[in-house]
Amino acid sequence: MRIGVLTSGGDSPGMNAAIRTITAVGIGRNHEVIGIRSGFAGLLEGDTIKMDLPMVNGISAFGGTILGSARSGVFPTPDGQSRACSRIRDLDLDALVIIGGNGSLTGAHKLAEQKPCLIAGLPASIDNDIGHCGLAIGVDTAVNTIVEACDRISDTARAHRRAFIVEVMGRHCGFLAMRAGIAAEADAILYGEAKREEGELMESLRDVLRKCFSTWHKNRALIIKAEGVPVSTSLMAERLQEYLDEDTPGVDIRHTILGHVVRGGRPSAMDRVIAQRLAFGALLALEHGLHDFMMSWDIETDFGQKTPDPHIRIIPLSEALAETERLLNGTSEVTKGRMALLNQVEDLLFL
Ligand code: F6P
Repeated sequence: MRIGVLTSGGDSPGMNAAIRTITAVGIGRNHEVIGIRSGFAGLLEGDTIKMDLPMVNGISAFGGTILGSARSGVFPTPDGQSRACSRIRDLDLDALVIIGGNGSLTGAHKLAEQKPCLIAGLPASIDNDIGHCGLAIGVDTAVNTIVEACDRISDTARAHRRAFIVEVMGRHCGFLAMRAGIAAEADAILYGEAKREEGELMESLRDVLRKCFSTWHKNRALIIKAEGVPVSTSLMAERLQEYLDEDTPGVDIRHTILGHVVRGGRPSAMDRVIAQRLAFGALLALEHGLHDFMMSWDIETDFGQKTPDPHIRIIPLSEALAETERLLNGTSEVTKGRMALLNQVEDLLFL
């Protein structure tokens, strides 16, 4: 087969490991592998490169993506998609592997509907907001990066007996805040899915800070806030400072927005393994003629087609996208389960 591979949307650590496996294993299994630069934008331009082994050896250790990525404004339009199909036919691709988050997988499914070639998706996004996928490529590294940053912040916070708000990426999904918050011993974890009203949210944070500094005489308080919480982090810090001045004079608050720091860096061993196994599974599925599917890691339900790898399932892209919508609007059982779990410990976090 002649197999195209592209990375699209926000990059995530582990994308390179996936590119390497598609290339190295693909060549090893007698396929020709064509890299497409800059995501769907590069596909529209026909910006390609024939992949070989020297290009991919050693790249698993690096964050970002050697193929480059982009958020294309043109591709989502019907005209963009039909141009992309023509381009795929011009390139004579038998299959295309699209590595990216939910926007990219939506694009993959739209392309698949026109079937210019076999289409496979690999879930890669630090946000972990992809339906029917327990861990997307990049999430593990991002969680570790956040925890390391919080540990550093905690050192200085304890030295000065301060409170900190740390805002983390995740777009509309609170997974990174939830998981990193537990690991970093946060005193409060804020995520958009809880849909808490601002006044009530601020009062509960005031209560947490009181308990931290007055009741338990802690020397630092850490609030992890997902970027999906619709309250400005700096305004939140200002308001909490006013509360602290009344309740525990002398205690200051600071805030840090980690931003893109969370998206870069050396992929964890776990992300490299997930990426390589998903990519290998995708190659095998394509060799069997499968189309319009996503490979999924450690799904929390019994959904999807089993594979010889016990961690991996094959999910129709349409189903993955429908569940993604439910994840984000809070109606997915997975979202409800994550929130229920956190609700049970929320009042104990500051202990
Ligand atoms: O989807 C990944 C992500 O890093 C989100 O967490 C974040 O909201 C967004 O991308 C940032 O996008 P950009 O890099 O285009 O600013």
